[in-house]
Amino acid sequence: MSTNIKEMKPRPFSLKVRILSALRFILDALTCVLFKLYYGTKGRKLPLIHDDILKQPAVEVARKIRAREISSVDVLNICIQRIKETNPVTNYFIDNRFELALKEAKDADDLIKSGSLSIEYLEKEKPFLGVPFTTKDSIGVKGLHMTAGITLRKNCIADKNADVIELLKNSGAIIMGVTNVPEMCMWYESYNCIYGRTLNPYNTTRIVGGSSGGEGVIQTVGGSIFGIGSDIGGSIRMPAYFNGIFGHKPTRRAVSNKGQYPELKNDDVNLYLCVGPMTRFAVDLKHIQKVISGDCAKTLDLDKPVDIGKLKVFYQFSNGAPLMSEVDPEIKQAMVKVVEHFQLKHKIIAEEKKIEWLKRSQAIWFTTMKNEVPFAAYIMKNPSLASNITEIFKNILGLSGNTLIGLFVALTDQEKFNPESKKYKYFMEARDYLEEEFKTMLGEDGIFLFPTHPVPAPYHNQPLIRPMNFMYTAIINSLGLPATTVPLGLNSDGLPIGIQVVANLNKDRLCFAVAEELEKAFGGWFEPQSIKQS
Ligand SMILES: *[C@@H]1O[C@H](CO)[C@@H](O)[C@H](O)[C@H]1NC(C)=O
Ligand SMILES: *[C@@H]1O[C@H](CO)[C@@H](O)[C@H](O)[C@H]1NC(C)=O
Repeated sequence: MSTNIKEMKPRPFSLKVRILSALRFILDALTCVLFKLYYGTKGRKLPLIHDDILKQPAVEVARKIRAREISSVDVLNICIQRIKETNPVTNYFIDNRFELALKEAKDADDLIKSGSLSIEYLEKEKPFLGVPFTTKDSIGVKGLHMTAGITLRKNCIADKNADVIELLKNSGAIIMGVTNVPEMCMWYESYNCIYGRTLNPYNTTRIVGGSSGGEGVIQTVGGSIFGIGSDIGGSIRMPAYFNGIFGHKPTRRAVSNKGQYPELKNDDVNLYLCVGPMTRFAVDLKHIQKVISGDCAKTLDLDKPVDIGKLKVFYQFSNGAPLMSEVDPEIKQAMVKVVEHFQLKHKIIAEEKKIEWLKRSQAIWFTTMKNEVPFAAYIMKNPSLASNITEIFKNILGLSGNTLIGLFVALTDQEKFNPESKKYKYFMEARDYLEEEFKTMLGEDGIFLFPTHPVPAPYHNQPLIRPMNFMYTAIINSLGLPATTVPLGLNSDGLPIGIQVVANLNKDRLCFAVAEELEKAFGGWFEPQSIKQS
């Protein structure tokens, strides 16, 4: 790093940006009232979980299957039953392989019954033997749809498993099916023109987040024992947050990205995209991570114990950026409680930060996305200015195969940063600078607490007025750092809130240990619609 970068400070925002930001704020406030009026008290009821096995961590389900306290076939049937009773309410499930899965579950039970492999061996080599799981409709599962929410791909079937699915299969886990995503996984609201809209189980008038939105829902309603998502701007952490579960975006390159759609053209973008676990229970994160990291697991050293009392804790309430929502007071309050917890229970005095460059998260993230694939080329047959615009009109009339947001992104394809431009180089330098700043702050044993998202789950379509709120998660992708979304209970409207816990590169284990600690202190996952609001 050159010395002039050491003193790098962001330039103040232009008048144009500040005016736009004020206009956005006013529009948001006005439309908020309209959304409230429109949705009123609409909302559908979800049946409660009957079976206790769905309220246990995946590692405990695995142990019970190995000890023959419950069969894999039974667990699978309970999941299938649960999917069938909840999917009609919230619309998250896309395609299944239940019959093949039942066969695999029976094989798992037979293998355990035969006694040919010791329980200790199974625990080590097949830690998830007989445990059902799911993933999103953009990660390849052989024989299942892999549309990524793109109408042109509505008949596409994956011809092989993604690397992550293969690794989990080798650990004994059984893939049941795939869940809904936004068009091309490029938005934080899970809606597309093939499968429609996924609804939030805590309140069906709200979004579920994206892009691993269906996966967030199936986890929180207990339709699957654990889930796998992918995250390039918050696609694991946002749905985990909106659905009150845990979600981890691992250290860059700690998990293979092979076998997803769209396949990245530019290897650099693999620095920012990462596959990771989504779970109801914090303890599962580490065990799933160990499997899906494959050969990288050694670098992460996940079994090394973490002494919570020796952590250095940093926190920041807001990124201070224009064009996005203010951080909700209830989220700030939840963060204060976490800070107090570290002080009371572990005598750690957390340090509040005001990291300047986080203000420029938006420019930095868009820069790191490079000139990766023109969006329009993926979602339209014959993309051109005319076709983009015709589609927007068709969309307004309800005749388009594309989502409105997809079309807007296609329209702005041309504005992607040119890697030769001064602006591009400036923000890449800023990224490098910010990465150094985080690395220096976090060191060996530091964690950084930061909102996962500035507000609780918005109403459907409301993200159109809050398009940049995902920058809270996205900036962490640009830095390549590991981050876990930790649920911290429900707000006064009965919606989940929480924060993300960020650590230094390859220190994913700190995120996991803190997630477990905060789960104990604040209750972790709460079943949707199971508690009366205060
Ligand atoms: C869902 O949200 C609506 C609109 O804000 C509200 O009136 C309703 O009470 C909420 N439902 C539940 C179950 O909390
Ligand atoms: C519309 O689609 C084309 C095809 O990829 C794309 O190059 C173009 O930038 C899009 N927008 C406009 C304004 O033409």
